[in-house]
Amino acid sequence: MNKGKLLYEGKAKMVYETDEPDKYLVYFKDDASANNGEKRGTIKDKGIVNNKISTFFFKLLKDNGVANHYLETLSEREMIVKKLQMVPLEIVIRNFAAGSLAKRLGFEEGLELAMPVVEYYYKSDELGDPMLNRYHVLTLDIATIDEMNELDHLAFTINTILKEKLRAKNVDLIDFKLEFGRDEKGKLILADEISPDNCRFWDMTTKEKLDKDRFRRDMGGVEEAYHEMLDRLTM
Ligand code: ADP
Ligand code: TMP
Repeated sequence: MNKGKLLYEGKAKMVYETDEPDKYLVYFKDDASANNGEKRGTIKDKGIVNNKISTFFFKLLKDNGVANHYLETLSEREMIVKKLQMVPLEIVIRNFAAGSLAKRLGFEEGLELAMPVVEYYYKSDELGDPMLNRYHVLTLDIATIDEMNELDHLAFTINTILKEKLRAKNVDLIDFKLEFGRDEKGKLILADEISPDNCRFWDMTTKEKLDKDRFRRDMGGVEEAYHEMLDRLTM
């Protein structure tokens, strides 16, 4: 499989065409950003670790019947994926209060929520990724009501599968962000990545943070946390 034209360079990944029209090549970078691009830096070998962790979760989800864009691993930083028309939403699922939810609702970080909470954010750098409700999604013509129901169902199913696997590794899944796209038939397919960049992982016993919050909050031990998550999942 050959790398074709660069189609898009994002904050964490680059997307290339391939010689097959229905496949993209995703290259995972070490670049890291936080607070809507205000804070920038690099996390050594993050691209390699996130490619491996995402591959692990995409395979786990496929084995559990959740369709996703993963097709094959080309190199340590390169993944071949199904080309999709992305839905411009970030779908966040929360099991415990942390980050912006803790701030907005005045909850202490780490408080277990009575039930998982879903939130939608509009993927728009210009607008700073505002939170949306279902009416906003419909008004913006981003998805239909049936698609929103399907996205909720998929997100909660993914949450159950990930939570269970992580519990066996002594990790609490605090919250995470998903992105979906439509295939050529309009079917909604999980895309993007699942890694410490877009999930909060806490050690169940010590409550140690094993995710990008260590970078966002200048806590140190960032690389070590990413490697620790990879080791726990794959060893
Ligand atoms: P951002 O755009 O937020 O800076 P990235 O650096 O992660 O994010 O860039 C990767 C881009 O690729 C994202 O915009 C994401 O929506 C998009 N993407 C992920 N998976 C697919 C896919 N299967 N098909 C098309 N685009 C995808
Ligand atoms: P938040 O508490 O900052 O709203 O983040 C909730 C979860 O979503 C957390 O796991 C990090 C993830 N996330 C992203 O992956 N990208 C984003 O742009 C934001 C705001 C959050």
